[in-house]
Amino acid sequence: MPVPKAELHLHIEGTLEPELAFALAERNGVELPYRDTEELRAAYRFGDLQSFLDLYYRLMAVLRTAEDFTELADAYLARAAAQGVRHAEIFFDPQAHLARGVSMGTVVEGLAAALDRGEERHGVSTRLIMCFLRDESAESALRTLEEAKPYLHRITGVGLDSAEVGNPPAKFREVYEAAAALGLRRVAHAGEEGPAEYVREALDVLGVERVDHGLRSMEDPELVERLVRERVPLTLCPLSNVRLRAVDTLADHPLPAMLAAGLMVTVNSDDPAYFGGYAGDNFDAVRAELGLGAEQLRLLARNSFEASFLEDDEERRAR
Ligand code: HPA
Ligand code: ZN
Repeated sequence: MPVPKAELHLHIEGTLEPELAFALAERNGVELPYRDTEELRAAYRFGDLQSFLDLYYRLMAVLRTAEDFTELADAYLARAAAQGVRHAEIFFDPQAHLARGVSMGTVVEGLAAALDRGEERHGVSTRLIMCFLRDESAESALRTLEEAKPYLHRITGVGLDSAEVGNPPAKFREVYEAAAALGLRRVAHAGEEGPAEYVREALDVLGVERVDHGLRSMEDPELVERLVRERVPLTLCPLSNVRLRAVDTLADHPLPAMLAAGLMVTVNSDDPAYFGGYAGDNFDAVRAELGLGAEQLRLLARNSFEASFLEDDEERRAR
């Protein structure tokens, strides 16, 4: 049995497997610029974050109806459960769908239909985290938060993703203040391709409780000391870092150094359909390539529940 774990860094659109992409394309009459799943999979050669994002946004064209989002989320929950995931905090990118004429209600209600059955069908509890696209404007983020207001009972928190460099956290100060005032939890991607300074800004300006990736924090010893002292969780995604070339090979990943420094790190899958593995695959990979022992793997699993937005009693049940 795979170790029970929580997944805290997972983009639901990044779980779109080529087979489902083609099935939805056919159902919705969407033309994909690939002959078959093999040709599509062969396109997954990424030089950096942007080359991945270009394909990630293009493939979303196949997601049109609430049922499409339900199928996508249900397929993810089945795969995650098989790899020991007991709880998942799931990102979605509403702006990428609104821009294609797919409404907030279609996305949220479509996802919620699968998540509502998640515990019963797959033994996985869930939360939804709405991400703002950082390469869009701050005004667009504010409009998106406004559009989400009828659905806030479904949404636990806000996040920040997409192209990082040149789009610092401070650009989104106002929308994060508004989200906090609405009682939403706050996380943000920072220090994936962007500098350690963006991690500090996410904490100080956006008030995030958790940092997604945070890999480049290691370049700033003072920041590392603070993250350790304040026990700020970092949601690492090792296979993603290899595919997007944040590290050269998995053997070069700073996860062991981060654990040794006393950082509160977790292991997650990011966009598993694109990066070669779900949460359990990421655990297996760091065990095999980084020589992590049973005690360190248990610590990573324990961290994942502690860093989650579950209440204490829910956390005990999920573990
Ligand atoms: N980084 C930034 N934005 C994203 C990612 C990622 O890995 N996946 C989906 N949106
Ligand atoms: Zn991510």
